[in-house]
Amino acid sequence: MKLVDVCAVEEIPPGKSRAVRAEGRDIALFNVDSRVYAIENSCLHQGAALSGGQLCGHTVTCRAHGWRFDVTTGKLGSSQCLGVASFPVEISGDRVLVTIGN
Ligand code: FES
Repeated sequence: MKLVDVCAVEEIPPGKSRAVRAEGRDIALFNVDSRVYAIENSCLHQGAALSGGQLCGHTVTCRAHGWRFDVTTGKLGSSQCLGVASFPVEISGDRVLVTIGN
């Protein structure tokens, strides 16, 4: 596990998303009500970038075909088992830090 500095907090305004790449992983960051969440930036369906989807509350809708993911968990719709990876996020000062596993 590695804690990685991925960007400044101000680069992800509330209600917005951002794509970053760290430790060989493509990660989508989402700011929901001033809290930042990180999930794998590749849709479970055909791999479209989830960072480009529409964010409504905690749900991002993939712009390719409309699959919906909970950005707080990475889970697909109401599924308890299907989804993309999610990564713990910490804020340190004005920086966003993401814990990335192997
Ligand atoms: S690639 Fe995301 S719904 Fe098809």
